[in-house]
Amino acid sequence: MFTRYCSRVAAAVLAVLLIQTINAIDARAQDPRAEDARAKAAAALAGQVTSAEEGPMEGVVVSAKKQGSTITVSVITDEQGRYSFPANRLEPGDYALSIRAVGYDLDGPRKAEIAAGQATAADLKLRKTRNLTRQLTNAEWLMSMPGTENQKMELINCVSCHSLERVVKSTYDTDELVSVIQRMNTYAQSSTPLRPQRRIDLARAANPERFRPAAEYIASINLSQGPNWSYTLQTLPRVKGRGTRAIITEYDMPRQTIAPHDVIMVNGTIWYSNFDESYLGRLDPKTGRHTEYAMAVPKPNFPVGTLDIGADRDGNLWLGMMYQAAVAKFDPKTEQFQYFSLPPERQRDNSQLNMVTPDRIHVDGKLWVNDAGPSTLFRLDVATGKFEEVDPLSMLPGGRKGPYTIYDVRADSQNNAYVTDFQRNYVVRVDAKTKAFTAIKTANELSRNRRGRIDDQDRFWFAQYRGNRITMLDTKEWRLQEYPMPTGFTNPYDVIWDRNGDIWTSGMSTDRVVRLNPDTGQAIEYPLPRPTNVRRVFIDNTTERPTFWTGSNHGASIIKLEPLD
Ligand code: HEC
Repeated sequence: MFTRYCSRVAAAVLAVLLIQTINAIDARAQDPRAEDARAKAAAALAGQVTSAEEGPMEGVVVSAKKQGSTITVSVITDEQGRYSFPANRLEPGDYALSIRAVGYDLDGPRKAEIAAGQATAADLKLRKTRNLTRQLTNAEWLMSMPGTENQKMELINCVSCHSLERVVKSTYDTDELVSVIQRMNTYAQSSTPLRPQRRIDLARAANPERFRPAAEYIASINLSQGPNWSYTLQTLPRVKGRGTRAIITEYDMPRQTIAPHDVIMVNGTIWYSNFDESYLGRLDPKTGRHTEYAMAVPKPNFPVGTLDIGADRDGNLWLGMMYQAAVAKFDPKTEQFQYFSLPPERQRDNSQLNMVTPDRIHVDGKLWVNDAGPSTLFRLDVATGKFEEVDPLSMLPGGRKGPYTIYDVRADSQNNAYVTDFQRNYVVRVDAKTKAFTAIKTANELSRNRRGRIDDQDRFWFAQYRGNRITMLDTKEWRLQEYPMPTGFTNPYDVIWDRNGDIWTSGMSTDRVVRLNPDTGQAIEYPLPRPTNVRRVFIDNTTERPTFWTGSNHGASIIKLEPLD
């Protein structure tokens, strides 16, 4: 009886629901105003970008920044020159508009007012820029200048502290440049013109005559001979097609001196290492709220700033404190730091603890960290705080005297370590149990291996900064595979993969993010809205499509790039 009553009620409820649904579908199909409203609701701000020279322009980055906000949102024009900001990305208010398209400036409009629930239309007119030299990326300067590959590659060292604009616009002759380059070598890597930091160990600035060949070359491509360059300025073609399908959000840091070097996400929160200052930074990606945690300065006369940041399985953060010769551990729950300093007898003026491998501590309680000064490797027992030294470069031809330097250190699923050599292109594996070394070398003579990561199949993906490639070391089959970058002088710094198997990278020269499909070798490039010195790259795999994050190391901002396909 009761059952039958229930099922009758259920049937009636179902019937009512069905009728309501049908009505709703009907109403949607028949009411053109509803269609219109939905279409409008989909965009907060949209329009077309044109210029007299090109008509509708594809690949132009259009940025909108709300008055008083620290967040800039950017989209990119499609092949009809159309751009569109989705409604949920721009809240009502007054926005400043800007564009990036090399060779062009925004003629107008430069402002847009966005009202709730309405689409604002803004067709943007561009005009040829009067000052192209302020718009060129490092890659475009390198493309433009005459010189051999080897000569140009001297300059990819300069971009770690400032752009090449400063170099090509200088008027110094060869002799003066010898001393300028010598002065550059007195600065620690963690320096920018805004915040130079002197090295204590000045070995790098010794024998300045060795800088003469570079100085001679620079005197031939700067303005020492006259007010104009002897070469024609060349620009990269703007991106097309899939490279235009992304939304980019930039979060400004509260001080221009903050240098977000490594940006990672842990449990939905963004954390970054500050390359130039002794703070750990945090950003809430939902609100843009920024927090800093002051770090200890165990060696007060030495440069400050941190490089690598990573998380262990418990969500603690670990940082390499560079010239402070220590590793820091930070517990986000208690907001307390714990420091592991090199023992006094191992401290040197050039001690520099850069890279850390906290993602494998759970394997055996050990963390690998390199000392980039003497280029050696330590294994830290995190329970006892003891550093054990191993010397992987000693096994390479010529041994310790060889011109090798350790750049990155990563660890595989068994916590075996892999170090990349920056000078002669080796990767050396250190067996965690036997401490035996095994080496492999990239084919390219001067690849300048930088950073990367080991994936869940124990494949080590790393960037060839100078070789302009991504390399995959299959640590099981012990073989290398290389993937060239789509654009010259991309000079990739780091690599990460996403859950679909795509490989992501970027560098300090093109202001583009590269997404590479390793099965086809094909790559998509996404343009960034501003000059961006990119170091570590990160992928958030929890979003509908993988989201790319990085820091603007010289531009004091954190960048999120969401691909739309
Ligand atoms: C380790 C960081 C660092 C590197 C690497 C670096 N610079 Fe600099 N550079 C600076 C800083 C800091 C300044 C501003 C302070 C100064 O001029 O000493 C600067 C300024 C300059 C200037 C302007 C100086 C002036 O007097 O107007 C030139 C030119 C220059 N750098 C050239 C170079 C060249 C060429 C290279 C590469 C061979 C290079 N820099 C590499 C840190 C660096």
